[in-house]
This record gives sequence, C-alpha cells and structure tokens, in this order.
Amino acid sequence: MNVPSEIIVIGGGIIGLSLAVELKLRGATVTVLSRDIKEAAAYAGAGMIAPQAERIPPSPMLDLCLYSRGMYEEWTRKLEGITGLETGYWSCGILAPVYEDSETDSNEDAEWFDRATIHQFQPGLGENIMGGWWYPRDAQVDNRRALIQCLRVAAEDLGVDFQEGVSVEEIQQKGDRAIALKTNRGTIQGTHYILATGAWSGQLLPISVYPRKGQMLSVRVPSSFPKLPLKQVLFGDNIYIVPRRDGLIVIGATVEDVEFAPEITPQGINQLLANAIRLYPALKDFPLQDFWWGYRPATPDEFPILGASPLENLTLATGHYRNGILLAPVTATLIADWVLTGQSNPLLTHFHWDRFLAES
Ligand code: GLY
Repeated sequence: MNVPSEIIVIGGGIIGLSLAVELKLRGATVTVLSRDIKEAAAYAGAGMIAPQAERIPPSPMLDLCLYSRGMYEEWTRKLEGITGLETGYWSCGILAPVYEDSETDSNEDAEWFDRATIHQFQPGLGENIMGGWWYPRDAQVDNRRALIQCLRVAAEDLGVDFQEGVSVEEIQQKGDRAIALKTNRGTIQGTHYILATGAWSGQLLPISVYPRKGQMLSVRVPSSFPKLPLKQVLFGDNIYIVPRRDGLIVIGATVEDVEFAPEITPQGINQLLANAIRLYPALKDFPLQDFWWGYRPATPDEFPILGASPLENLTLATGHYRNGILLAPVTATLIADWVLTGQSNPLLTHFHWDRFLAES
C-alpha cells in the first residue's frame, strides 16, 4: 500500500479530530474540513465512558469499547501534555440504580449493591431504588467544555490544517477512487480521504448512518451545599446524571427518530426532568443552567462503520451512535494503522460498511 501523502479528514468532531491528531503524530500531512464544530455529537454528549453502564452485550463491540476505555486515561494525558489544557477525564465510576431488585451476580469489574448498600453508598437516591450495579472502571470526560477544545488545539499545535466553515457537498469519484471534494469553498484534493461526518455521513455516501436526536440539559449544585452531593455518574432507566467536579450536572438524554429537528421540546425536557428527579430527588431544587440537543450517528445494528469503503482511497470512521466519545482513542489508533500501513486489526472486520448490504 502506498502511504498517502495528503490525508483529508471530512468532519471536525471528536472522531475526525482524534484521527487527525493520531495521523499527524505518526508523520502524515493532514487537513480537517469542519462545517461547524458546534454541530458535532461530541459537543452535545455527556462525556460518559460507559461500556458497562450502557450494557453492551458480549460482542466485538464490547471488546472494542473495553479496549478504548482502557486507553482513555493515557490518551487524555497525552492530549493535555501537548496542549497544556484540561480534558476533564475523571475515573469516577458509574452507579446504575434499578427500581426492581432482580440481579445479584457480580464479576471483577461490576458489583451488585442491595438496597441498603446502594442507599449508603449514594445518599439521596429515590426511595424506590431497590439496588443497583456499581461499575468502578467506567468514567467520564468533560467533552463539551474541555475535550473537544483540547483536541482542536492539539491538532492545530501539531500542524494539522483545521479548516472551520467548510461544508463538503460532494465526493467526486472516478472509477473506484475519490478524486476531489466539492465544497462551499471550491474543490479540495488529497490522496486519501476519511469520512468522519457522524450523523450526516449518509448524505455523502450511500451508507447506513442516520441521526437519532438527543436533548440534554444541565443544572448546578446550589452554592449552599457544603460539598458535592454526587461523586459518580448515575445511570438509570432512560436517564443519566453526570456530575462534573465544579458542581455542574449534565442530564441526558432523549432518544428520538425525528431526523434533523433543531429544537428543544417541552416533552423532551419534561421526560428528562421527571426521570432525573425520580432517580435523585434533590435535583428538583437545583438551578437550571442550559438546554441543548445533538444527533447521534445511528446505524441499523448500533455499531460503528470502520475501515474500508467502496472507494479504495476513502476510509470510513462513522456511525458510533451512543459511543463516539468512548470510542475515539481506539478509532484513531486502528484507523491510523489501516490508513498508514494497510494493517487491519482483526476487530475491524466486524465493523465493515458492507454488513448491511444483505438487509437492503
Ligand atoms: N452516550 C449516551 C447517549 O448517547 O445518550
């Protein structure tokens, strides 16, 4: 395989930026085309690094997620070292309370707490909580306020050409190769292209990726509290509550198949608040800070699309659905290996774009 001399990453979200940093650190010349960094799913998410709390069943997807979780601390330290900026990585663990006491096993990375234990471990939970799982190795990162900026600065400090405000309208093709990108700023050419445009990926190539909207909100611990009441993420039924170390609390998220619908709805916010207050009643008095939404890049099996594409000089890194923040380090590493050396980690075979062809 010829090493591509000029790599163009289409998409300036967490996947595009993570890849750009990794490729640049390995000596490639990299351009990132970003339409609007604030549209990125990583700008909207809560920053959970949560393969266990998300209950991903044993599968290549779980293997990929656990591999990435294992890389996270060192990866964020590396980015902080390059930039001098924080990422907000916090190995806080995730507590998953339940309303029905049904599960009692445990394994080395998960502990079952009965009713008395969970209420002692996390005071203030709703009275109907009957027990729950404790996942000490799940974690969080401050994606919205820290990681995404840290990645962008790292990319620029390393010499990546990051171009904001560039909208790719068409991938021009000749035979089985991409030859140029038609953009709002003219035609741009590289030797290799990487598609990392998240929920918008299906607009540029016929691959099965579509938006699944999530509405979010935040509150703040009142200044009258002597100390932070939450020191780990709470992951409940259709709700998660993610406390940051400075007292901000991020609450998410709805899961809506409404295409691109750029608005907050009373029903969405009502659902979030009702579920959050049921799980942790003291929240009802915490001052509201902000509301926002984002679009998860969903695929039919909810697994990402990684690696080769129908075009020989275009690589896919998209469709991360609920796990883009978690999967950023492993995606950057495995896709950089593939693009620069042609070596495909065996895990990538499970995430090939053509797995959906038989269904269509
Ligand atoms: N990662 C959580 C969510 O997508 O809502």
